[in-house]
Amino acid sequence: MNFSLSEEHIMIREAAKDFAQTELLPEVIERDNKQHFPDTLVQKMSQLGFMGVMVDPKYGGSGMDTISYVLIMEELSKIDASASVIVSVNNSLVCYGLEAYGTEEQKQKYLTKLATGEYIGAFCLSEPEAGSDATSQKTTAIDKGDHYVINGTKNWITNGGRADIYLVVAQTDRDKAHKGINVFIVEKGTPGFDIGPKEDKLGIRGSDTHTLQFNDVKVPKENRIGDDGFGFKFAMKTLSGGRIGIAAQALGIAQGAYELALKYSKERKAFGTEISNHQAIAFKLADMYTEIQAARHLVMKAAWDKDQGKNYDTSSAMAKLYASKVAMEQTVEAVQIHGGNGFVKEYHVERLMRDAKITQIYEGTSEIQKIVISRSVLRG
Ligand code: CAA
Repeated sequence: MNFSLSEEHIMIREAAKDFAQTELLPEVIERDNKQHFPDTLVQKMSQLGFMGVMVDPKYGGSGMDTISYVLIMEELSKIDASASVIVSVNNSLVCYGLEAYGTEEQKQKYLTKLATGEYIGAFCLSEPEAGSDATSQKTTAIDKGDHYVINGTKNWITNGGRADIYLVVAQTDRDKAHKGINVFIVEKGTPGFDIGPKEDKLGIRGSDTHTLQFNDVKVPKENRIGDDGFGFKFAMKTLSGGRIGIAAQALGIAQGAYELALKYSKERKAFGTEISNHQAIAFKLADMYTEIQAARHLVMKAAWDKDQGKNYDTSSAMAKLYASKVAMEQTVEAVQIHGGNGFVKEYHVERLMRDAKITQIYEGTSEIQKIVISRSVLRG
């Protein structure tokens, strides 16, 4: 068993850290206030290879492993979780899905552009009445011979406004339940495909989240991914990898808040000494450090499982469940250590606390992760 990172991993982590410090940090509060993430920053992340981290270089990707992806996600999330969710969805839910299950034609046409960041992707599963219960898709795709016609509504779609390519999950045969679900590649600008207003959110406010409407949207048959009826399994398999990305995001949010709290506690004085000298604060720091390290081990184990070709459905659910809990709890502690300053924006911890909450909700709530884990435990 080896817990050390390779030299290459350390270099990748340093590159992501440098980018986060020099490019993301300066205007992160402004982006949160304005609910905006500029294209120029997405382009810079693309140039660093962050939009197609694990994609084979023959399709324009960086050809790195999942450990590298986790390290990049953690460093970006320490500063700006809005940046890291753009990266996470593009990598885990869109590029991975296309590379693993797309046809060669789909890969040449779409993956090559998504992996380089020329295109941005979105993953459209959630609906007004099908968030956690993903088999209950109301969006339909009717087979018309050489094309499908899609009708329905998708909710809470990350990258909803900025994406060029949307992977849309839809019911093609209601009688077959989850075996009658398919996933389609839909291009922005396809007639009948409308993007609704941006959601005004608690956290990850820089990232754009939209409701999408599909009214008689014609999609060529060659845009279906996988065999007929593969859509639900496609969604489950991509989400397993997505959960590693979000677990890494949660880890980064927690680590970012911890580092700020540690620094603050060594500077801020009360009762005649730095507050870190008070056991009330020192014990909080000890708990934060321990909890975050425990989360890190789960996240790295899930990434390692994926890199080793092992099944990672359960380890990714465990990593997400635990890291998101740690992110929520420890960002609250970071605000507490900052006292009144923790409640104002310039100290950053209140934003990290707001950003932490979504990691317990998207790509499956904590309760969904417990369904996945408990089924695995009971199956033995
Ligand atoms: N890999 C492959 N197949 C899988 C699978 C996996 N990980 N998980 C389930 N399946 C298969 C099952 O084997 C079964 O197939 P068979 O009938 O052939 O055996 C089929 O899928 C149905 O499985 P279940 O009976 O387990 O399905 P269920 O209805 O009980 O649901 C669930 C399981 C885990 C609750 C699932 O619905 C789920 O994960 N829900 C949460 C969805 C989710 O994460 N939504 C987030 C939206 S995306 C998002 O947030 C993106 C973003 O913008 C950031």
